Amino acid sequence: MTAPRRYHITTFGCQMNKADSERMAGILDSLDFQWTEDPNDADLVLYNTCTIRDNAEQKVYSYLGRQAKRKHEKPDLTLVVAGCVAQQQGESLLRRVPELDLVMGPQHANRLDDLLAQVFDGNQVVATDPIHIIEDITKPRRDSKVTAWVNVIYGCNERCSYCVVPSVRGLEQSRTPEAIRAEMEALAAQGYKEVTLLGQNIDAYGRDLPGIAGSGRRKHTLTDLLHYVHDVEGIDRIRFATSHPRYFTERLIRACHELPKVCEHFHIPFQSGDNDVLKSMLRGYTHEKYRRIINTIRSYMPDAAISADAIVAFPGETEEQFQNTLKLADDIGFDMLNTAAYSPRPGTPAANWENQLDEETKSDRLQRLNRLVGTKAMERSQRYLGRIEEVMVEGVNDRDPSQVMGRTRGNRLTFFEGSIEELKGKTVPVKIDTARAFSLSGEPVYATV
Ligand code: SAH
Ligand code: SF4
Ligand code: F3S
Repeated sequence: MTAPRRYHITTFGCQMNKADSERMAGILDSLDFQWTEDPNDADLVLYNTCTIRDNAEQKVYSYLGRQAKRKHEKPDLTLVVAGCVAQQQGESLLRRVPELDLVMGPQHANRLDDLLAQVFDGNQVVATDPIHIIEDITKPRRDSKVTAWVNVIYGCNERCSYCVVPSVRGLEQSRTPEAIRAEMEALAAQGYKEVTLLGQNIDAYGRDLPGIAGSGRRKHTLTDLLHYVHDVEGIDRIRFATSHPRYFTERLIRACHELPKVCEHFHIPFQSGDNDVLKSMLRGYTHEKYRRIINTIRSYMPDAAISADAIVAFPGETEEQFQNTLKLADDIGFDMLNTAAYSPRPGTPAANWENQLDEETKSDRLQRLNRLVGTKAMERSQRYLGRIEEVMVEGVNDRDPSQVMGRTRGNRLTFFEGSIEELKGKTVPVKIDTARAFSLSGEPVYATV
């Protein structure tokens, strides 16, 4: 008997990539490969890559260089580059790293078995043509046993002037409500408790699906989908990301308020607090509109957690315009804000503009915004002190194995004493006694009957 072949996947980038990796791992499991944590121990190494900013892309090349070298000592090593760098570079990746066996774009993730069959036939394969994404029939190998990602829409039809996603992820393709519900039912049957519905611009969900005849209204919006999947038994919590301010409706906010499983957490990137910058980013909304959305959310759910993404030092951004971003972050008080300095990306309009800012300005603005983010998050955390929060337990606290880790409905990481064997997947009321900027600790409050 030959030893089983081992595989390793490293994933860069966003939740979309993580979800794709879990499905590709499921395919490799079904091909009788065995997972290994250590890439240097693997017979097949797959890098699922991200190109959102230059440093993400460069990281991939340094990882790849090491494995390419290893292949000289181990010629039967199979080297795969999947994801967004693969899509963007295509053939040219083979010229850069001739040791590669397979270069495959994100739309091809569910076809990994076909593509590997070609590789094992002795071909070097590039799969980057736009295709209709096939429904996945294998069981993803999910990282968590409690929370799961479910793709609802692939791709992005927006054209933000800084962003590579539309060119690497392709046009929007919604999965049918039936397929999404079926995946959630299967997850519930396996014991999963929480689902995050995923899309780069999740508010676009359903635009490409046929409407329901005679209804007069476009059906299958994200709001309809939330109603449609809400009663899947066994799934206790539903989240969704990422929302685009341009499409965020009051009808959706109302649904989140009315449907008890939908958590009061909204991830709505604003990118900039300045209307002229927003305009050159081609975002299609103003900061006033963004503020109105948050106000509406808070009028229905005063305690809702709000998170977002922002870019500093976009080409041409003046100090005053940057101040408007600081002001928006200060006024809203985000529970969490992902920040980045603008990075010019090949093939995007803004990369060719002449008004690029220097590195010093970028890092200075990033630091100033990050300081504010930390202060605001800390302020937001204080409101939990003394309160009893429902915490769904996901795992062990890495820093203290006597504690378990879970999240509140508002998505705050929370730690408390307890045994994971007993508590995994359970929702426990926890009295919060310590608040840090991005996490909480407390004591479980068990009913004394
Ligand atoms: N679809 C989501 C986000 C996708 S990319 C949205 O529309 O908001 C994730 C984040 O990366 C973006 O929100 C943005 O803040 C950041 N980002 C995208 N392109 C970037 C670039 N060229 N430079 C710096 N940050 C970028
Ligand atoms: Fe990129 Fe804009 Fe699409 Fe988000 S909405 S993925 S920022 S193009
Ligand atoms: Fe990166 Fe691709 Fe996601 S570029 S952020 S992995 S869509």
